[in-house]
This record gives sequence, C-alpha cells and structure tokens, in this order.
Amino acid sequence: MKIALFSSKSYDSAYFSEENKAFDHQITFFETRLKNRTADLAEGFEAVCVFVNDVIDRETICKLKDHGVKVIALRSAGFNHVDLAAAEECGIRIVRVPAYSPRSIAEHALALILTLNRKTHKAYNRVREGNFSLERLTGFNVGDRTVGVIGTGKIGATFARIMMGLGCHVLGYDKYQNKELADAGVEYTGLEKLLGRSDIISLHCPLTPETAYLINKQTLSMMKPGVMLINTSRGALINTNDIIESLKNGHVGYLGIDVYEQEEKLFYRDRSEEILQDDQIARLMSFPNVLITAHQAFFTREALEQIAVTTLQNLKDFEEGKELVNEVRYSEVSQ
Ligand code: NAI
Repeated sequence: MKIALFSSKSYDSAYFSEENKAFDHQITFFETRLKNRTADLAEGFEAVCVFVNDVIDRETICKLKDHGVKVIALRSAGFNHVDLAAAEECGIRIVRVPAYSPRSIAEHALALILTLNRKTHKAYNRVREGNFSLERLTGFNVGDRTVGVIGTGKIGATFARIMMGLGCHVLGYDKYQNKELADAGVEYTGLEKLLGRSDIISLHCPLTPETAYLINKQTLSMMKPGVMLINTSRGALINTNDIIESLKNGHVGYLGIDVYEQEEKLFYRDRSEEILQDDQIARLMSFPNVLITAHQAFFTREALEQIAVTTLQNLKDFEEGKELVNEVRYSEVSQ
C-alpha cells in the first residue's frame, strides 16, 4: 500500500523502515506536518500516517478525499486532533494505536514527579559547576503521600500500580471504575474529594469536550496548597492562564507537564536560536518549580516498535478488507 507518512523524524523512518520489512508497504516519509496547506503532498497515496500535532481538520480531510486517500493511520492513541465527523462524511477510515506501551507514559510521569521532588536536574548542573551545596534541594518522601489519578484507563492504571508500589495511597477518579484496580488498593472517589485530598495529582484521561480545561481556576482552588500537578495526557486539560496564576500565588507547589495547550506550534523542533513568541510557555519556563518535557512520554524503544508494527498491521488489514480492530468511528465516540 502507498503510504504518505507525515511529521517524520529520524526515529520514525528508522523504526518504520525496519518493521516494514515484514509488510512491504511503499512508504514515503515527509518531514512536514500534515495540514490544509501540505495536504496536496498526499496526492496519489491511499493512506496517510500522522502524529499528534498534525492538523486533521475538515479542510484537510476534504483535500485528502479529493486526492484519493482512503484511510488515515494515527501513530498515537489520542485522536482529539482529528475531525472524526468530517472523516466519516468523506468515507475516510481512521485507525490508531490504542495501546503501544502504557508503561512508557506512566514511567515518564514518575520521572517528572521524582525530578521535581528531588531536583536531580538542578543537582546535576550544580555538581558539574563544582557547587556541592544542598541548599534548597530538600525533597519529600513520595511513598508517604496520597496520589490522585484522574482517568484510570490503560496508562492511569499502570501509573496507579507503580505509585502503590512506592507505598503511596492512591485515589482514582474515572467515569468507569476499574474493579481490578480497586481490588488492588486504589480508592475510587469523586473528583472534588480527589482534588482536596491528593498531594500529587496526575492526569490520564483523554481530551474531550467534557475534559477540556478540567484543571481551571475553580478546580485548582479545591487542591491542597503545595500540590504537585502532573500532565502527560493532553495540554488543553489544563487552563494555562489559570495554572500560571496558581503558580504565581504559590498555591500549586510543583507542575510537571509533557504536553502543553499550544504545543503544536512549538514541539518536535529545535527552536533554540529562535525568539520565543509564546509568552505563556515562556512564563511557565521561568518558574523554578515547573518541569516541561516536549511530549516525549511515549518515547521508548518498546513504544516506537509497537507503534510501527500496529500502524503497518492496521494498514495491511485495511488493504486486505479485513475488520479494522483499531478503528475510531465518530458514531461510536460521539455517544
Ligand atoms: P484509555 O482510554 O485507556 O483511558 C482513559 C481513561 O479516561 C478511561 O478509563 C476513561 O473512562 C477515562 N475518562 C474519559 N473521560 C473522562 C472524564 N470526563 N473524567 C474522568 N475519566 C475519564 O487511554 P490511555 O491509553 O490510558 O491514554 C490516556 C491519554 O494519555 C490519551 O488520551 C492521550 O491523550 C494520552 N497519551 C499521552 C502520551 C504522551 O506521550 N504524552 C502518549 C499516549 C497517550
């Protein structure tokens, strides 16, 4: 099958080329993002393959349809960046990689927590500079704390188990409770109670109209003073203006984010020689108690292999007219 793979990085071409030996698709790698202005590159391809910051809106989808594209393969679990209604109207099927390695994201959330807490990033720089002082590096025992997990699906459940392994008391909030997780010791509770009781809160629900700005002025005010907030899910779960206010007035003690509301204009490029135009991220970067990574929680060897294999299999199934087990349908997710 002829596939146009957008937002291609060196690791995408490496892993997809390697795994494609078993599939024999014809893949063309484009470094550019897919958006309305670049959709013409897809002319003559049956399939396009995209990542989280490609813009799959109605205009792009209409162009893809005109160019003969039949299927869009997402190299991600999240599909909030796709206009599913438009895809269904245009008869374009959408497939994704629902679970490539929940552990990779859960472990990155833990890395953010431990780094923010024990300040290893600062200690590393200090020691390299010959500064062996411990002043202002005090941390706390994570295992003695209460951790709130919002969204206890594949990643949230893995994260909850890791935190219980450290000795934490874990509170869970989800639309649907996971009985196995409750049996393992997670205490399910309402959102307000979770916000009020947790020392660390980690977001693992998808971005939907219901969860957009879940963390806002009001929900922030329900949190304990000094709370640590972690977001490895999607940037727009947090109202950036509101979190900046809470950091300025000291209510939020730590913020660790792998995702950012306006990330599609920034992430996955070296911008170190550019003048940063985004004042909100500039403000976030200025706080000593904020740690930002550029959407890398998924970025492990195991996850990259699994993303490539599942995507190539999704497209093979489409080509052979088989059932698409990883399809995302508007009619199903809009209920
Ligand atoms: P999942 O579908 O297994 O779990 C999501 C959970 O959130 C489900 O249990 C669902 O019931 C719950 N949920 C949905 N709406 C909710 C609401 N309004 N309130 C409370 N809970 C709600 O998804 P998975 O695989 O655990 O992924 C979670 C998210 O992680 C993805 O949607 C994606 O945005 C993000 N992600 C981030 C990555 C990164 O590299 N930073 C990589 C992969 C995923």
